[in-house]
Amino acid sequence: MSSITFEGRVAMITGAGGGLGRQHALLLASRGAKVVVNDLGGAVDGHGASAGPAQQVVDEIIAAGGEAVADTNSVSTDDGAAAIVQTALDTFGRVDIVVNNAGIIRDKSFAKMTPELWDPVVAVHLRGAYCVTRAAWPHLRQQNYGRVICTTSAAGLFGNFGQANYSAAKMGLVGLTRVLAHEGAPNNIKANAIAPVARTRMTEDLLGSLADKLDPSLVSPLVAFLASDDCSVTGEIYSIGGGRVARIFLAECAGHFDPNLSPEAIRDHLAEISAEDGSSTPTRASDEIKLMLRSMDSARAERT
Ligand code: NAI
Repeated sequence: MSSITFEGRVAMITGAGGGLGRQHALLLASRGAKVVVNDLGGAVDGHGASAGPAQQVVDEIIAAGGEAVADTNSVSTDDGAAAIVQTALDTFGRVDIVVNNAGIIRDKSFAKMTPELWDPVVAVHLRGAYCVTRAAWPHLRQQNYGRVICTTSAAGLFGNFGQANYSAAKMGLVGLTRVLAHEGAPNNIKANAIAPVARTRMTEDLLGSLADKLDPSLVSPLVAFLASDDCSVTGEIYSIGGGRVARIFLAECAGHFDPNLSPEAIRDHLAEISAEDGSSTPTRASDEIKLMLRSMDSARAERT
């Protein structure tokens, strides 16, 4: 089988000055991608800024024989995102791959959530992915080629105490990814989301003895596949960590149909409403309408 390489491709990786983004940048660059290493260089809660982390990763890539340029703009503003894309165009002449990885955390239980904790977290993860992808989008469309990878999280997909701000942003990224998959399809733009688990500064206090098993470099092979010409999937979500990768999907149960639906009927049919046998995995909103119509039709057929 042929190797996956990125000759001629330009990748923008946000938040690539450390943690997972750094690993993604090193792997893609080692396989021939020209990489924009974007990182604001602040603390894990988003305070502060430094040009050091992005430049250090660029230095590592160049020392290993690769090509990269540092960019220290924030992903969370339109101007910052436009400047990141401009760095790619000015330095390498194009952009093919967008890895939305930059992130911060400001954890607090919902009872203690404040705008100062909510707004910046949503701004970096969700607005940041919107701003950066939006700035790159005309270029991807115009060249009929693009790969977009968004970084979601189990905290958003499944919930996690103390992370309402982060989880809301991370689930928002799933919606963004799925719409990008649909709207990008005519122009050979594929968009997928990853839900990583890895030892980084963001998780160092949480993983305990598991940390040794969760090297961040074990997340990047999935990013490389999803960023490659060989990527055959779009609109998908993958769990990735410690060398294990698995598709995550949103399913809808077959459900219960009653033309005279009442609150009591819902109470009395909860088991049927929740039964996973015969469930479906819609890939667009209109699929769900088809499921509803199918349920109505089969109930009508049973009655006649
Ligand atoms: P990290 O803190 O090492 O990396 C995040 C990077 O984003 C930092 O280098 C930071 O400077 C940069 N950044 C923050 N705000 C920025 C902005 N406005 N503009 C540009 N860069 C900015 O943490 P880690 O773990 O590598 O996180 C990477 C991504 O993976 C994040 O989106 C995170 O939410 C996600 N994630 C990580 C998990 C893990 O187990 N480490 C679990 C689930 C999701």
